[in-house]
Parts: sequence; structure tokens; C-alpha cells
Amino acid sequence: MSIDDEFKIDIEKLKELVTNKTKALVIVSPDNPTGNIIDKNTAKAIADLAMDRDFWIVSDEAYRTLIYEGEHVYMYKYAPDHVISINTFSKDPGIPGWRLGFIYGPSDAIPKLKLAAEEMTYCPPVIAQKFVAAYLRSEARMKHLKYIIEEYRSRRDAAVGALREYLPESRFIVPKGSMFIFVDLSRYIRDSEKFAELLLEKYGVTVIPGTYFSDIYRSAIRISFVVESIERIRMGIERISKAANELRGLL
Ligand SMILES: Cc1ncc(COP(=O)(O)O)c(C=O)c1O
Repeated sequence: MSIDDEFKIDIEKLKELVTNKTKALVIVSPDNPTGNIIDKNTAKAIADLAMDRDFWIVSDEAYRTLIYEGEHVYMYKYAPDHVISINTFSKDPGIPGWRLGFIYGPSDAIPKLKLAAEEMTYCPPVIAQKFVAAYLRSEARMKHLKYIIEEYRSRRDAAVGALREYLPESRFIVPKGSMFIFVDLSRYIRDSEKFAELLLEKYGVTVIPGTYFSDIYRSAIRISFVVESIERIRMGIERISKAANELRGLL
């Protein structure tokens, strides 16, 4: 899986990687950091492999409501006995940090997960539970969801446009979901950690270095397109471009 094949999962390569020691495979769709989503055929192929080779699929579907093209694939439909789906309530109402989520999966697996959760978090904050219960029941939710999908899609498009304009040598896939664009800057810089540090200190822009996700992406950064206005997204990307051009060949 790489930017060259648009971060698509190569089932044949995956088959080679699965051994008799494989206990679980983590799938994140919509993906953080690439914004890619898996399609039904891929989901089915992964599910068939999990059933055949008997491993768990841990399916992180945190961004399932933030889809701009296509539709979310619910993994459990393809292998109900092999999927543990992990989810958060934080994404569409915009409450990161409130740390309230849910899991579902086969009834024999959930009590074990519950035990682990109790040891780690004991009890989710009551205020978060009350807010989410009211939000999920409210009529405002669907209106809000429609609004943020349209709003986030236009911010994504603005970010994509600005990247093409200000950083023409960058490489990325247009995210179909999530909140992020993963931008390969290898034609400008090599060390994304130093770049992210200088970007913050000298240019006032925050990004996450690619190494946070994988050592393969030493020259990539993740930018978020959901929080800021279109003007500020454009301004931020213009500053990233200024930094990338000034630091070219130095990092
Ligand atoms: C892929 C993915 N899963 C789960 C989470 C957890 O979300 P939260 O801590 O907001 O509940 C995040 C948060 O950024 C995420 O990116």
C-alpha cells in the first residue's frame, strides 16, 4: 500500500503477509491520515481472508460519518464473526477530546474487551454521555451532518486547489473521507519532523509529520482541512509552500 497505488490495499500482498501467527488486522476506513476509503470488493476480499485464515479484523470506523464521495463500508457485514468494530462519537458533533466511543463485535469477544476497557478507562465522563445521548436523539443531528459534510467537502476542495496551486510538486490523493490530506513533499524536503517543527515556530502553521504514521513517510505531512475557514486554509498552505521552498535542499 503506497501513494503510488493511491493507498489501495493489495490483497495478494496482504495474503503473503498473513502467517499462522497473525492474530488480527487493523483496517482504518475512512483512513487517517490518507482519507482513503475501502470499497466493497476490498472489504469482501479481506473478510474472506480473515475467515479462511482465522484472524480478527479490527475495523476502525471513527470517520464513518465524514464521507465526501462514495459510501462507508461496514466491515462486520462481510465477516460478522471475525470483525470487532471500533468507533467514536466525537467526529460529526466535533467533540474531540471528549473520549466517548463504542465497539461492537461477536458476543463472545465483547465481554473481554469490556474488561480491558474497565481497567483502562473505568467510566467515560458523564457529561460526554449526556451530550452524546441528546445529540443522537436530536433532529438537529441530521441537519448538522448535512451541513458539515457540505462545508468540509468545500474546505477539502479549497485545500486541494491550494496544494495544486502553491505546492505543484507535492503528491497526495484527494481524500474521500475523514478530515485530512496526506501530502508527500519529498520533492521539497526530506525530514518532515524538522519541517513540522520549523513550520510551527517560524511560519505559524501546525501539521503532523508523516513519521507519526510510518517511517516510510519521512517526507510527508498530514494537514487537517476541517477546523479553519477556506481563507485560512489557503493562507496556511501558502505558508507551507513558502517554508518548503525556503527550506528546499536544507532539510
Ligand atoms: C482513526 C481514528 N480512530 C479513533 C480516533 C479516536 O477518536 P476520539 O479520541 O475523538 O474518540 C481517532 C482520533 O483522532 C482516529 O483518528
